[in-house]
Amino acid sequence: MDELGFNKIAAAVLATALGVMFLRELPHQLMHSNAPEVPVYSVGPIEVASSEDVVDLPFPQPEWVAAMDAEQGAKVFKKCQSCHKVEEGATNGTGPALWGVVGNPTGTHPGFSYSTAMTSTGYNWTFEELDAFLKKPAAHLKGTKMAFIGLKKAEDRAAVIEYLRINDSTPEARPVAVVMETAEPVVEAPAETMEDVIEDVTPAPEGH
Ligand code: HEC
Repeated sequence: MDELGFNKIAAAVLATALGVMFLRELPHQLMHSNAPEVPVYSVGPIEVASSEDVVDLPFPQPEWVAAMDAEQGAKVFKKCQSCHKVEEGATNGTGPALWGVVGNPTGTHPGFSYSTAMTSTGYNWTFEELDAFLKKPAAHLKGTKMAFIGLKKAEDRAAVIEYLRINDSTPEARPVAVVMETAEPVVEAPAETMEDVIEDVTPAPEGH
């Protein structure tokens, strides 16, 4: 091989190596700094995760369940107290009384004049709905009368929801964290071809 040919090959090898290094870094670069700090798994070597994928993790994550602390929730509830009471038999204020609200259909506390938005959701106050609502009430339920900016921190929401949960004559069971069992760290060696991948997932025909 002449020297020029060798140099060309060396250059090609170097370019490929740089390309691989770049592509491996790429998913990290694309992640926004305000994305939640959770590991992102991809099934292929260069699958690019969007920030949407990150927030779409199934609810509730283990960190959320771990943050369900009623004592902490009582502190967070101070932000709600100008409008809400939570004790058994408490009266409505600017907002409805919240005794036993977890698991109930939305907008059904007796004697409170709710917005139509709140009475016509068609859903119950599950942990997930409460979390989404309390994060940004006006965005989650357009037309709500609850004039509250929201609780930005997931751990504050988990804590205050736990506080609401226990303020009930028959508290709902605590939610179980969703753990993604299939999640694997980034696979190092990619399958050679698409055929290899298909062969891997196709069960062998019976009798072989
Ligand atoms: C400025 C007053 C105000 C503050 C502060 C406030 N809320 Fe509300 N909240 C309301 C009003 C008003 C409604 C009824 C909304 C509607 O009808 O659309 C409501 C509704 C709710 C509901 C639905 C109740 C039901 O019966 O369906 C929940 C749950 C709730 N608030 C929780 C909270 C929590 C938890 C906090 C504190 C983190 C909080 N709110 C802070 C005024 C407030």
